[in-house]
Amino acid sequence: MHRRRDVRGQFTGAPIPADVLGRILAAAHAAPSVGLSQPWDFIRVTDDRTRRAFHAHVQHERTVFAATLAGERAERFDGIRIDGILAASMSLVVTYDPARGEPAVLGRHAIADAGLYSVCLAIENLWLAATAEGLGVGWVSFYREPFVQELLGIPAGIRPVAWLCVGPVTHLETTPDLERHGWARRRPLADAVHAERWRGRDDQLPVGSRRG
Ligand SMILES: Cc1cc2nc3c(=O)[nH]c(=O)nc-3n(C[C@H](O)[C@H](O)[C@H](O)COP(=O)(O)O)c2cc1C
Repeated sequence: MHRRRDVRGQFTGAPIPADVLGRILAAAHAAPSVGLSQPWDFIRVTDDRTRRAFHAHVQHERTVFAATLAGERAERFDGIRIDGILAASMSLVVTYDPARGEPAVLGRHAIADAGLYSVCLAIENLWLAATAEGLGVGWVSFYREPFVQELLGIPAGIRPVAWLCVGPVTHLETTPDLERHGWARRRPLADAVHAERWRGRDDQLPVGSRRG
């Protein structure tokens, strides 16, 4: 879990053995899901034209985001790589089907997002399994959902949740890219743990010290 990284720049492009890919997808498919709805699907994308089309779309969205930045923030973003779409061995696109398991998905009547949470758990399982297999994964979210639906022929109502770049890597960094580039810092665990109520100070757990 602590070795896992979001990878953009370290993909080698070497192929992923079929048995390894099978184990990673099996790990994803073993995730918990609300009402046992298993609302995910996985689209394996290796076609160069498809990946190039997606890459061009992501580059455009990069400029859209960059236009919202100014000064030091804009300069920093300039040096940050946001995807490894063309360098990674393949892409795996994970989707969410809210109709899966309907009617009456047990546990979702009050929280519609519980379906999406389930898909994210499958993604995290996939990510950890890939790390254990020595592969890197990079989550790309610089896209508009209708573009990806059109590109991959995803039916209306089914949402692309993640475009994951997957493949062998030269190494996994020990520090997140965004921290290495001075864009953001990880928050101390102690700041995230509360006792009894929101912002209740917890001095009993060995979770380190708070920031500032
Ligand atoms: C929902 C989600 C979307 C993300 N989208 C992108 C993205 O579009 N481009 C990118 O470079 N990283 C993306 N990331 C990776 C995060 O930047 C990364 O997880 C974070 O900086 C922590 O680094 P680590 O995963 O190496 O620990 C995304 C991560 C998540 C969970």
